[in-house]
Amino acid sequence: MQENGKARVLRQSLKMVPDPKIMVEVGCIRIPIDSASEGFSTMYLAREAKRLGARFFTVDIDQSNLRMAAGLMLGEGLDPVLVWGDGLEFLDRVPLKIDFLHLDGSEPVSTFDQFRAAESKLDPYAVVCVDDCHTYGDWEYGKGDLLIPYLGELPDWHVEIIPSVFEYKTAVCRRVIA
Ligand SMILES: C[S@@+](CC[C@H](N)C(=O)[O-])C[C@H]1O[C@@H](n2cnc3c(N)ncnc32)[C@H](O)[C@@H]1O
Repeated sequence: MQENGKARVLRQSLKMVPDPKIMVEVGCIRIPIDSASEGFSTMYLAREAKRLGARFFTVDIDQSNLRMAAGLMLGEGLDPVLVWGDGLEFLDRVPLKIDFLHLDGSEPVSTFDQFRAAESKLDPYAVVCVDDCHTYGDWEYGKGDLLIPYLGELPDWHVEIIPSVFEYKTAVCRRVIA
């Protein structure tokens, strides 16, 4: 099956990380099929983690999503760490350097808080992808509505907003390495 547009942006972004060892996602898959609008990110990232020899953590507040994902992972011989809990709490506590972060939880405030919790733990070459950064509702940048202006003020961060599928866009954020 051809990869969907959101997965394509994630895989291309992951290629920018020289040697990813720790990959983290907030917002696990919630339906068990490859859907263009959802993204099926957890499966794509778990496959990439296996191929690259990286450890992949996916965090979700809804345990039923993790249970469903576990079944799919077992079927493909993938072994991500499935974390039941709040993304912010996980990122606050995780004692690891993060090479790749996918933020795909709910809305702009929690997305911003999650990034801030992870910020000091990001490897200098880390890439942060934020899903659904297109304009919707009251938000010019969707889930990135606070994070994208914040990073825009920082001289050492570069943000690219990439169309993925339909009207959706993914923000790909990384440090500018001099
Ligand atoms: C849009 S879905 C994720 C879709 C998935 N990444 C994909 O590509 O198919 C958002 C998920 O984030 C979870 N979520 C929302 N807020 C969260 C939070 N604060 N911490 C952890 N998970 C959260 C929801 O339970 C839901 O499963």
